[in-house]
Amino acid sequence: MEREVWNSKIGFLLAATGSAMGLGNVWRFPYITGANGGAAFVLIYFIIVFSIGVPVMLAEFAVGRSSKLNAVGAFKKLKGGKWPVVGWIGIIAGFIILSYYSVIAGWTIKYFISSFTGLISPNVNTTTYFNQFTSNGLQNIFFQAIFILITIYVVYLGVEKGIETWSKILMPILILILLLLVIRGVSLPGAPDGIRFYLNPNFSEVTGRTILAALGQAFFSLSLGMGAMITYGSYIPKEISLPKSAFIVTFLDMLLALLAGFVIFPTAFTFGIEPGAGTGLIFITLPSIFALMPFGQIWSALFFLLLFIAALTSAIGLLEVSVAYVKDERNWSRKKAALALGTTAFIIGVPSALSNGTISLNLFGMQFLDAMDYLSSNILLPLGGIFVTLFVGWVIKDTALKEINLEGKFKFEKSWIWICRTIAPISIFLIFLAGIGLL
Ligand code: PHE
Repeated sequence: MEREVWNSKIGFLLAATGSAMGLGNVWRFPYITGANGGAAFVLIYFIIVFSIGVPVMLAEFAVGRSSKLNAVGAFKKLKGGKWPVVGWIGIIAGFIILSYYSVIAGWTIKYFISSFTGLISPNVNTTTYFNQFTSNGLQNIFFQAIFILITIYVVYLGVEKGIETWSKILMPILILILLLLVIRGVSLPGAPDGIRFYLNPNFSEVTGRTILAALGQAFFSLSLGMGAMITYGSYIPKEISLPKSAFIVTFLDMLLALLAGFVIFPTAFTFGIEPGAGTGLIFITLPSIFALMPFGQIWSALFFLLLFIAALTSAIGLLEVSVAYVKDERNWSRKKAALALGTTAFIIGVPSALSNGTISLNLFGMQFLDAMDYLSSNILLPLGGIFVTLFVGWVIKDTALKEINLEGKFKFEKSWIWICRTIAPISIFLIFLAGIGLL
């Protein structure tokens, strides 16, 4: 069978950007920033995104397009030996992420509906509202299931018709709405404090944990270290420049996260909401700002709808990694793969859906959902990143260089290889050690 490819350059760019932009930017970035003290974290995050994120993404694109295979198959074809294990780490990480990602994405569906049923009002205490909802296990599972079903359906439709078409239409609208919210946010009375917290760094509080959190956020937000960009890369037609694509996707991803922060922190400081409030941060701050706007209900509904879609384009990427694997390597049909794997992710996600107040379920001293997030983002994804860069830098250097130069010479090829060989894997490793307290 002919391998599926992206239909157009812009289609691929938007799909890859759609995978990158998701809850990671609008939900995770603000809450992790809040939990890690604000501006210093943001600065470290940006440094990591450009020094490690872009090179790792390029490495994944190169592995994907030169092999035209899924994450496990790519390593098998290009080298074999133990290398396919790297693809497996990715598949496992993808499952774990999808499992709790769908819980949070389910919240966006709930909030979309609630926009019209009493959430948006100056009399509502948004913290209480959030806590009541998330401790209702049945509702959480219900919305999680709906989200996974929709994801399965789009993946089942296939790469081009499903993922590409939707991403193309909807991502620009999300950015526009965020811009509008930024204008509202920065004109709130708490804006100066919020912006100070967000942009005025205080390095005395930076620890190894902060840097590891920034690294984990970079991998999560850019969809790196788990084979997603290898898989998407495998569908890229030859005439698209890989270095340019890596840069554009990263840039847009960062822009969206940055904008979200400009809405959340001014709002938090205006309404006395703790910026370190945790996973609920955007679900608590945003309804407060909508309540202040004319037609607040409609803005709120529109916003959560778009966030839902952003989450969907990312969840599709998460599921596509394992679907591509069983399709390529085990000859499963796309339909069977999407259904079986999607259902599995749903089941693994149930404890996460219940861990926000329904039952008390802790792991490593964190709520189950947070523990899953920590394990995948801060441990598995960086681990994947170390191996992908080592693989490109040492094992398939010539193939990779040829691949990224197909559409014209890449000026920074030497530095890129050097980063893949040493700087990226070593710094990821050191950050990792510092983050878990061993350095
Ligand atoms: N990057 C996505 C986000 O920010 C999450 C994701 C991670 C998607 C890994 C695919 C693979 O929401």
